[in-house]
Amino acid sequence: MASSLVFSSWIILMVMALGTFSTQTEAARAFFVFGDSLVDNGNNNYLATTARADSPPYGVDFPTHRPTGRFSNGLNIPDFISQQLGTDLLLPYLSPQLTGQRLLVGANFASAGIGILNDTGVQFINIIRMFSQLDNFEQYQRRLTALVGAQRAKQLVNQALVLITVGGNDFVNNYYLVPFSARSRQFSLPNYVKYLIFEYEKLLQRLYDLGARRVLVTGTGPLGCVPAELAMRSTNGQCSVELQRAAALYNPQLVQMIQNLNSKLGSDIFIAANTQIMHNDFVNNPQAFGFSTSKVACCGQGPYNGLGLCTVASNLCSNRDQYAFWDAFHPSEKANRIIVQQIMSGTNAVMYPMNLSTILDMDSRT
Ligand SMILES: *[C@@H]1O[C@H](CO)[C@@H](O)[C@H](O)[C@H]1NC(C)=O
Ligand SMILES: *[C@@H]1O[C@H](CO)[C@@H](O)[C@H](O)[C@H]1NC(C)=O
Repeated sequence: MASSLVFSSWIILMVMALGTFSTQTEAARAFFVFGDSLVDNGNNNYLATTARADSPPYGVDFPTHRPTGRFSNGLNIPDFISQQLGTDLLLPYLSPQLTGQRLLVGANFASAGIGILNDTGVQFINIIRMFSQLDNFEQYQRRLTALVGAQRAKQLVNQALVLITVGGNDFVNNYYLVPFSARSRQFSLPNYVKYLIFEYEKLLQRLYDLGARRVLVTGTGPLGCVPAELAMRSTNGQCSVELQRAAALYNPQLVQMIQNLNSKLGSDIFIAANTQIMHNDFVNNPQAFGFSTSKVACCGQGPYNGLGLCTVASNLCSNRDQYAFWDAFHPSEKANRIIVQQIMSGTNAVMYPMNLSTILDMDSRT
């Protein structure tokens, strides 16, 4: 006991001697997350909404084996990125535990069901739309400033990594939600995509104005190939042509917008992650990634387990790692791990203009 006390005070002295050097080089990088259910880690648990993942079997493979609000059997994309950063998993912004030193790790502002547009996901009632997520980011910065002072707070935000994943719901839970939806009567698909990109650019600009300087922006996955769409729109197991067309229009225009924004800002602030290519790889060739299927969801009911919600009453597969999709819309933990591997080390075709390992490497030297 006594010797371990001596030993630990010796370490404290050593750390004090290294002083500012060690805090500057070893201070972990903060991480902020914005977007929809692909990245929500529990904010919706605190809201009166139907878009929630807080009951079993969600979380069955999470370390606690309990549901957390993540739309996954285990970890989700932000969790695997936190692991790469070497930091604790983020808390949802609405968690009462997000206080004191925990604020320094960052926060997850995402909310399942939301889209770029305010009218996306209205059927889920009380969800945190993009403009509110950004308002919450401002409020977070005020709390951080109260904790560490204005200068350190600004530095922490400037040096942080940011992830934003939004846009899929603007198709699935808006334009294509019902036949003859208001938006589909208002816009042709190409014009709707242009409108989304125009509105998205404003959100990214606001993120920049709030201090974000390294932002991963994911495109949409192969919207037409998720088990829900196979169940609702496909007769022969082929991906929905309309939704695939939407994704094919949207993703390249997103990259173009990001390029324009970066050149306007004079720096590679925004990094486009082409999650469609990443997904397509395992949708077209599930076996190459160790999946037995990318059509059937692990949890659900009806054709492809693609109808309705994943609940205790649903079919549940026994080996989750064999399934690319956990439920009718969301990747399994294993698929999330593969997506983050691609974000880390993918080529220019999937990570534009560079991958996350290059970013982490560059930023650690500046
Ligand atoms: C969403 O609503 C907010 C608050 O009313 C507004 O500031 C914002 O411009 C709206 N966004 C869109 C895309 O209409
Ligand atoms: C991405 O990451 C890998 C592994 O860290 C690296 O070798 C590669 O050159 C990086 N960049 C591109 C554009 O592929």
